[in-house]
Amino acid sequence: MITFRLNGRDVSLDVPEDTPLLWAIRDDLGLTGTKFGCGVGQCGACTVHVGGRATRSCITPISAIQGADVTTIEGLDPQGSHPVQQAWREIQVPQCGYCQSGQIMQAASLLKDYPSPTDEEIDGVMGGSLCRCMTYIRIRKAIKQAAELARNYGSATEGDSSNG
Ligand code: FES
Ligand code: FES
Repeated sequence: MITFRLNGRDVSLDVPEDTPLLWAIRDDLGLTGTKFGCGVGQCGACTVHVGGRATRSCITPISAIQGADVTTIEGLDPQGSHPVQQAWREIQVPQCGYCQSGQIMQAASLLKDYPSPTDEEIDGVMGGSLCRCMTYIRIRKAIKQAAELARNYGSATEGDSSNG
């Protein structure tokens, strides 16, 4: 039995220890905002936060998150008002949308390390998050806008505190 916190709630799952966190989130817990892309840690579509850090859920066995705090796109902000989400809407970043929850989770993690990120810092952190629709320029612009918004948003950029 694996027990952890998901979006601020305690959950327990009786699944094989090598079950990827991604499958647990999507199939066992029914949160489908987190996407499957490559399955081998190379695209970023499955990115969630574990302990507040961007983590590829497709290559994270459920056994590794015993007792951990996991946040998915559904739990990033109760109202969908995290600065990254606000900026994403203002800039209208998504095209098909498939990669975007992973991009947003990666970007939210980035802002904890780089509150005023440069282009190079953005490219360095976001380089592993692939977008078939080539929204990279809007992503970069939105991250900079999110950094501005974050200055008025408070502690949510310092940890996934807003989900309880
Ligand atoms: S699906 Fe996890 S990195 Fe691609
Ligand atoms: S918006 Fe289509 S894959 Fe990124």
